[in-house]
Amino acid sequence: MWDYTDKVMELFYNPKNQGLLEDDREPGIAVVFGEVGSIACGDALRLHLKIEVNSDKILDSRFQTFGCTSAIASSSALTELIKGLTLDEALKVTNKEIADFLGGLPEAKMHCSVMGQEALEAAIYKYRGIPLAVHEEDEGALVCSCFGISESKIRRVIRENNLTTAEQVTSYVKAGGGCGSCLADIDDLIAAVQRERVVGVQVATGIAATKESQRPLTNVQKIALIQKVLDEEVRPLLIADGGDVELYDVDGDRVQVTLQGACGSCSSSTATLKVAIEAKLQERVNQNLLVEAV
Ligand code: FES
Repeated sequence: MWDYTDKVMELFYNPKNQGLLEDDREPGIAVVFGEVGSIACGDALRLHLKIEVNSDKILDSRFQTFGCTSAIASSSALTELIKGLTLDEALKVTNKEIADFLGGLPEAKMHCSVMGQEALEAAIYKYRGIPLAVHEEDEGALVCSCFGISESKIRRVIRENNLTTAEQVTSYVKAGGGCGSCLADIDDLIAAVQRERVVGVQVATGIAATKESQRPLTNVQKIALIQKVLDEEVRPLLIADGGDVELYDVDGDRVQVTLQGACGSCSSSTATLKVAIEAKLQERVNQNLLVEAV
């Protein structure tokens, strides 16, 4: 028997916002749904959103879930969390916030909270006209072929939940829970995220020390800080819009990047570069930086 919190049991027995949303074709209102999982795999969730077009606000949300106690409670929690948020705000809701709303979930059931987060993204991408296939390609290399889980999805869940073992990753996104041949790759990703965290702390410490001594950043510190700003403040926004960016090289004050996915083919990619990336790097790293695509 799983050790569920009272909140999980409350939402399991009396789920809020269960059902579907009909599209009544009200002017200025859009109704859309996103779905993840499959009944054959044991869990499936369809999340419905009612959106006010002008404000991008989620006016209402409902869910239809096929799954266990924690899948139903997580879906219900998600609908409560996102009502009243704009779509951009909703995209920032993490699976950890869903689990926290429930007072926690058993680790082996954390994938239910991840499923909610994915259904939300699927609905918003659908509303924004970003084909799921494009979105999935943008998510990077496939790590777990048994469950179709990409590298970026695994990195994200490690980062957002501070995971330290492959077993935990399996509990959160199922990767590694089939043939097991990807477990070594998952271990490598955990180590890589931990290294990034250490570099981030070193960069933050370096910046504080540099400010104190009024010395300019060294080249190594500058590149590390550019990478950190891209990873933490730029890429999440681009990924949410179906694109992505990678740091290619830094030559003096010239920062070369490659734009990917929707950004690479988008006619407004130059504006994206100037506004979203160059301005952010000038503000956070050095006002002389110039960004160019390669
Ligand atoms: S490839 Fe990941 S479990 Fe088989």
